[in-house]
Amino acid sequence: MCNDSGCGHDSENTRVNELITKYKDRPGEVLKFFREYMEIYGSLPSKIIKRAAEAFDKEETEIEDLLYSCNILRHATPGLHRISVCMGTTCYLKGAQQVLKAFCGELGISPGETTSDGLFYLEVVRCLGACEFSPSVMVDNEIHPHVNPDKVASIIKSYI
Ligand code: FES
Repeated sequence: MCNDSGCGHDSENTRVNELITKYKDRPGEVLKFFREYMEIYGSLPSKIIKRAAEAFDKEETEIEDLLYSCNILRHATPGLHRISVCMGTTCYLKGAQQVLKAFCGELGISPGETTSDGLFYLEVVRCLGACEFSPSVMVDNEIHPHVNPDKVASIIKSYI
């Protein structure tokens, strides 16, 4: 550990602690933590995954699976809103399939596709880390809790 305050490590540690405190008890906390970390630092060292796993009381493999399933390391396309519909077990059992069908119908695309105007990319993910709010959908960095097919059109509209 570097003790030289001029090297930047101390300020990064402080910032990471602040981010952990900020997201610890909020919906989608783990993903939001990583997304904000990536926005600030641009990369994700394994030491941060380890630290977050401890802070959020999760297994490292669980965190890695989450990051992989949500493509968190993939760069976003400017202007494109990424809609991630959770199809994890909890969301699935609470009607996520109908939610996904509604998004497909409203947007006129299938998962893995982008709308012709380039505004929305639709994907299916395994778990957003917000199971208590299932069915959960994430748009960009924002979790939408308890989504049902009737809410889908207004969610989309709020990003146009
Ligand atoms: S299963 Fe959907 S948020 Fe966990």
